[in-house]
Amino acid sequence: PELLAAATESQPQAYCPYSTYRVGAAIRTGSGAIIVGCNVENAAYPLGSCAEAGTISAMVLAGERSIVEVVVVTDGDIPGTPCGGCRQRIREFAGPDTPVHSVATSGAVISMTMAELLPHSFGPEHLLHND
Ligand code: THU
Repeated sequence: PELLAAATESQPQAYCPYSTYRVGAAIRTGSGAIIVGCNVENAAYPLGSCAEAGTISAMVLAGERSIVEVVVVTDGDIPGTPCGGCRQRIREFAGPDTPVHSVATSGAVISMTMAELLPHSFGPEHLLHND
């Protein structure tokens, strides 16, 4: 409920004059902190930033490095599941069982684990040598 409230409060802050598609995101971190974000578009369209991307940047700035739970809030009937790029961004700091909840303002919800969103994913352990 707390994480959903945080994402819901962030959604109206979205700057999305081009798509008019408002996205709010909230991350619960390993320390229990809640970090929020929204999408920020740009007149040069490809430079727009997803809500999840901004939230992760804020999380790292706050000194946090682990994602325990994610909520994304969007308008309409179809829950806004994270785009492919943002699945990879979340995955960097999440575990395979980390829940990601996509909530539409209509009330529809899709909850999936990180591994369901991005199976057989590439991650830090592929690059970091820990033998
Ligand atoms: N968007 C997000 O913020 N998160 C997603 O996972 C999907 C898309 C934003 C990007 C753009 O501002 C708008 O939604 C329409 O694509």
